[in-house]
Amino acid sequence: MSLSNNWQIQPAELFAMGPVVPVLVIENVEDAVPIAQALIAGGIKVLEVTLRTANALDVIKEIASKVPEAMVGSGTVTNPETLQQSIDAGAKFALSPGMTTELLAAAQKSSIPLIPGISSISELMEGIDAGFDHFKFFPAEAAGGAKTIKSVSGPFPHVRFCPTGGINVGNMGNYLSLSNVSCIGGSWLVPDDVVKKKDWATITEITKKAVAAATQGK
Ligand code: 3PG
Repeated sequence: MSLSNNWQIQPAELFAMGPVVPVLVIENVEDAVPIAQALIAGGIKVLEVTLRTANALDVIKEIASKVPEAMVGSGTVTNPETLQQSIDAGAKFALSPGMTTELLAAAQKSSIPLIPGISSISELMEGIDAGFDHFKFFPAEAAGGAKTIKSVSGPFPHVRFCPTGGINVGNMGNYLSLSNVSCIGGSWLVPDDVVKKKDWATITEITKKAVAAATQGK
């Protein structure tokens, strides 16, 4: 079974826009546009706004309407309701830390792609059975890291992963050098203390370093 003619963008295209995806936890709506612009100035286009703050959906709305060059998606999408809220806010894709039957079924019918999260082979097989072939591998470092993902390429060579969880500029090369990893995600690009100071130039600087290192690693 294959997915999904109704998706506005295919996961392979999305992953190819990486290779570094910032995982954003944004509290204040007024910070949304400057953070997105700082990331874009640093060379990153795909942004994951996690639904972990009260304002997350408004943050997505702001970025989607005011920073058209960003490819903004929602993260921490755990059920059909938050998937629909993400679409309504203007998200272009959704990521989940895991997957449920309900969420996969809703994603098959939705207009945007879902990247479900897995951390075991059985979960991966369920996702493949439902037609998915691009997954988040989460929590990457805690679930065995690059070694685990490399092992999975034997039985499942067609599957591609975006690992997140414990990844930073120091260890991302271990992942990006794998044939089944197209991009990685992490929160280190936009540190809380830097956001509190509204030091957008530092975000651009961290981003540039990450993009340069990632391009070498790939
Ligand atoms: C997440 O979804 O929380 C990501 O995996 C981010 O993990 P990190 O904070 O370890 O980068």
